[in-house]
Amino acid sequence: MKFFVDTAETREIAELHALGMVDGVTTNPSLILKSGRDIHEVTREIAGMVEGPVSAEVVATDADEMIAEGRKLAQIAGNIAVKVPLTWDGLKACKTLSDEGNMVNVTLCFSANQALLAAKAGATFISPFIGRLDDINLDGMDLISDIRQIYDNYGFETQILAASIRTVNHAYQSAMHGADVMTAPPAVIKKMVEHPLTDAGLATFTADWEKTGQKIL
Ligand code: E4P
Repeated sequence: MKFFVDTAETREIAELHALGMVDGVTTNPSLILKSGRDIHEVTREIAGMVEGPVSAEVVATDADEMIAEGRKLAQIAGNIAVKVPLTWDGLKACKTLSDEGNMVNVTLCFSANQALLAAKAGATFISPFIGRLDDINLDGMDLISDIRQIYDNYGFETQILAASIRTVNHAYQSAMHGADVMTAPPAVIKKMVEHPLTDAGLATFTADWEKTGQKIL
């Protein structure tokens, strides 16, 4: 499973990248706002830090404007994935941008039918939003499973990018249900290391080692 980091904070990306945890990065208008930085500048910096896809999102709602914005964003670097929303205009933009050789991430996906349309329109990535489905008491994992099944039934190559990951359980379940990629906030990725039995075991080993009076170095 590939790990994308869902942030526009370059310091956080650098820390995880040093550990080999960053296969790509996703941003959106809210994350750009949070970073307080200019979209072109921060996207260029991030694209220079990682080898994999860096998603940068259009903000227009009309297909022609989305295509113009997508082309502009794609010029920032060779590893930009243009992010378009899952609307009819977004699908038109997806088809054009993808035919022009760009990676396209179709975002704000909340149904298997939407994911099927995105694959038909040539999406490189489809982003089902797990956390936002959970927020309205629906199971985001059912959506991942359904998309996995449909894509496998017909051999679609669009990659399932589990997004809106809020918990370590979302990360685990996304992997179990066959998502190709997950994009998670840095805090969630770091929390995946935690287990109480690891902490307890380490405490015991440390205490016993002190009793031996030995040193390794
Ligand atoms: C990433 O591509 C999405 O924009 C992001 O995961 C959305 O997450 P949120 O629902 O926590 O805002």
